[in-house]
Amino acid sequence: MKYVIGNWKANKNLDEAKHWINAFLSFDFKLVQNNVTIIICPPYPFIPLLKENTVRFPFINIGSQDVSLYYQGSYTGEVTAHSLSGLADYAIIGHSERREHFKEANQALFSKVEHANKTNIKPIFCVRGENDELPRDIRIVAYEPVSAIGTGQNDSVDNILDMKEKLKLPENTIFIYGGSVTEENAHQYLIRPEIDGVLPGGASLDPHQFYNIVLSTI
Ligand code: PGA
Repeated sequence: MKYVIGNWKANKNLDEAKHWINAFLSFDFKLVQNNVTIIICPPYPFIPLLKENTVRFPFINIGSQDVSLYYQGSYTGEVTAHSLSGLADYAIIGHSERREHFKEANQALFSKVEHANKTNIKPIFCVRGENDELPRDIRIVAYEPVSAIGTGQNDSVDNILDMKEKLKLPENTIFIYGGSVTEENAHQYLIRPEIDGVLPGGASLDPHQFYNIVLSTI
C-alpha cells in the first residue's frame, strides 16, 4: 500500500475547492484503487464538502492539517480533534510551518497526537530531521526536510533513506517523504519499498498533477 497525501495548506476558497474535487473525482482510479491510500488535507472549512463527496471512494480519505492543542472547551476559534472526529480520518501534526510560524514544540505536538488518537484520527507526524523527537507509538512519520519544502529542491532518495535509518523507526512505521514532490519526480520515491508514500503540497493544488502523482504509485 502506498500513500499519497495532498496538503493544500492555506489555499483555495469554496468555489476552487468544489472545482478541484469535481475534477479529481472525474479521473479513472481503476488501476490504482487497490494499491493506494489517498489523503486530501484541505483547509478546515472544506473538510465536510470533501468528506461528503468522497464517501463512495473508500481509498480516498480526508485529513486535517493540524488539530488544536486543546481537546474541547472554551478556546474560541480553535478546531479540535473532538470536532473533527467523523470528518477527518487523518491529521498532519508537527508540520515545519507550524513549528516555525506558530512556535509549536514537542510537548504541544505530543498532546495533539494524543487528542487525535483519542478520536480515531490517525496522526501523520512530520519531522524535519533526526533532531525532532518522535511521539511514542507513532504509526505514520513524514520526513520533510525544510530545504525541500516549496523550494523545488526535492531531496534525493539516498538522503531520505539515510534519514530513515537515523530516525530509528520501529518496524511497521509508515514512512512518508515530503518536499517539492511533483508529478515528474514522485515515481523515484514511490517505487522504493522503504518509502511508503509522498506528501506533496504545491503539486496537490492542481487536481490533474495530484492525480498523476497518484498514478506514479504503479
Ligand atoms: P511542497 O510542500 O510539496 O510544496 O514542497 C510539502 C509540504 O510542505 O508538506
